[in-house]
Amino acid sequence: MERRHVALVTGGGRGIGRAIALRVARAGAAVFVAARSQEACIAVVDEIVDGGGTAWPLYLDVADFSMFDEALAEARELAGGIGAIDWLVNNAGIAVSAPFLQHGRAGGEDLYAKHLDVNFHGPRRLIEALVPGMIERKYGRVVNVASSAGLHGHAYVAAYCASKHALVGYSVSAAKELAKTGVTMNLVCPHYVDSPMTDASVERIVAKTKRSEAETRALLAAQNPGGALVTGDEVADAVLALLQGDQNGAVAELVGARMGVNEGEAVRWR
Ligand SMILES: NC(=O)c1ccc[n+]([C@@H]2O[C@H](COP(=O)([O-])OP(=O)(O)OC[C@H]3O[C@@H](n4cnc5c(N)ncnc54)[C@H](OP(=O)(O)O)[C@@H]3O)[C@@H](O)[C@H]2O)c1
Repeated sequence: MERRHVALVTGGGRGIGRAIALRVARAGAAVFVAARSQEACIAVVDEIVDGGGTAWPLYLDVADFSMFDEALAEARELAGGIGAIDWLVNNAGIAVSAPFLQHGRAGGEDLYAKHLDVNFHGPRRLIEALVPGMIERKYGRVVNVASSAGLHGHAYVAAYCASKHALVGYSVSAAKELAKTGVTMNLVCPHYVDSPMTDASVERIVAKTKRSEAETRALLAAQNPGGALVTGDEVADAVLALLQGDQNGAVAELVGARMGVNEGEAVRWR
């Protein structure tokens, strides 16, 4: 009988994480939908369960390492009858914009430290908590959701870019050490995605420039190499392919392709 996978998707309550959780559940995995907002996680879990799948909400602040042991013990208990978490999708992330010289003290807080905590140390600590068991069981899949900002530079998001570059460098290095263990680590790096995070960027730009929302959205889409916003489903498909496949150390750069125009070039593999 084919094994049933148990997935943990951080930031699963909305946006890209929601799309990933739904996609992974449709592929037959039991899914922990983790984030801080439990209402959002429960809504995604209900959607999965209504569709015949298995899922649980999990309260997890990826920047609060002190809660990992308890949260993962709860997960072990809930999924015990199915198996251990063998698919980890580190998707939770934050993006705050500011001029790079102000990131260190914006609103009295160090945005460099904050981005690194959530976008880099959070995934790293979860990996440290879950990958040793995967190695022991000789099977596991880790997909880290970085960003085009982990491969390129963008104005006004130096802290975000620094944290995503850290995640990319760490993941491709760790993948080399994982070779032949049965555990793989891969990355997806989307350009602008149609998600609540991008909605917030659009709102900020509209407030600053007085451009219309539609014009701003079109401008962001035009900045993507493929000319369109990436969809959550496109990211989810790439993540699932990496979870189900055997690649290790791969980077899927999602460029935002236009349907019927260049959709065959939606993913650039590195
Ligand atoms: N949108 C884009 O254009 C884009 C492009 C490339 C890469 N990405 C990356 O894709 C990932 C998802 O982005 P998105 O666009 O879906 O963003 P989003 O709509 O803002 O969702 C972010 C998710 O992360 C969770 N989260 C944030 N801080 C957290 C923390 N400390 N602990 C646990 N969960 C936390 C949020 O839930 P709570 O707030 O309830 O905890 C939410 O579920 C991020 O890593 C982002 O950097 C996004």
